[in-house]
Amino acid sequence: MDEFEIRQKTAAGRTFMHMAKENDPDYKTDQYSGVTQPPLFKDPVSENIIKLPTDFAGLDIRNDFLGVINGRASHRVYREENISLTELSFILWCAQGVKDLRGKRYATLRTVPCGGARHEFELYLCIQHVEGLANGFYHYLPQNHSLECLKEQEDVKEFIGTSLSGQTWANKAGVVFYFDMVAYRAEWRYGIHAHRIALVDAGYISQNIYLACTALGIGGCAIGAIQEDCSNEVFGLDGDEEFIFLAHPIGKIAAEDHQKELDFYAFVHDYDL
Ligand SMILES: Cc1cc2nc3c(=O)[nH]c(=O)nc-3n(C[C@H](O)[C@H](O)[C@H](O)COP(=O)(O)O)c2cc1C
Repeated sequence: MDEFEIRQKTAAGRTFMHMAKENDPDYKTDQYSGVTQPPLFKDPVSENIIKLPTDFAGLDIRNDFLGVINGRASHRVYREENISLTELSFILWCAQGVKDLRGKRYATLRTVPCGGARHEFELYLCIQHVEGLANGFYHYLPQNHSLECLKEQEDVKEFIGTSLSGQTWANKAGVVFYFDMVAYRAEWRYGIHAHRIALVDAGYISQNIYLACTALGIGGCAIGAIQEDCSNEVFGLDGDEEFIFLAHPIGKIAAEDHQKELDFYAFVHDYDL
């Protein structure tokens, strides 16, 4: 990419962030034009459905709110130890759990806020260390708090490393969440503004994953540097109507690894930044 192209793309990115300035009074989104809304969820494609436990009473959940807020941090050093199914269930509930419906089928109300309550994301998972689950690729079904298993695969390390652009530290993750944007779900309501809103919406999901993990003593890290094509392919997404654009590995952590965590940013000291 040459200098000119870089400048053009940077300018296009800024224009995108200014979409709120686009105030054409004649512009109508599909919702306002009376087009029927798309489904609130994707239906399962597999018959291998795992109902997730919903009794969180047995979990050791930190309940000092300020401690959880202050304790949140990105972790990149994981122990290859199992996350329990109840822990995973709790994290998924915090990330995307459906608490109620607005109207009969207008919208879902979830544990995270979302522009227009469109909830345009589906969470896909690559599972490597979860008690009772085979390694492989899964899809979260928020409509009944379940997982569907799409494909079992014992060794997922290579996929994790490649899909996260060579960030091989994530190879030891227990689970990697992949955020799938179902574009029309947001576009139906927000049209040309949908994509900017969706970027904001994704942040709430990721933050709830961070906070749920912090409360359980599990580590994790949002990942923007993903490889879209291989991620879309493994989860069967067409890459246009739906595509992966954010990931979030999580894994068991240990106090003894604190120095290794700090070493990720050793360059700050090396270069006196
Ligand atoms: C949208 C987003 C994308 C990120 N992408 C990456 C990434 O690709 N690789 C990485 O190591 N960290 C990534 N991070 C983590 C940030 O580097 C981290 O949040 C930041 O250094 C501050 O550290 P803290 O989270 O411990 O407060 C990302 C964070 C966010 C919110």
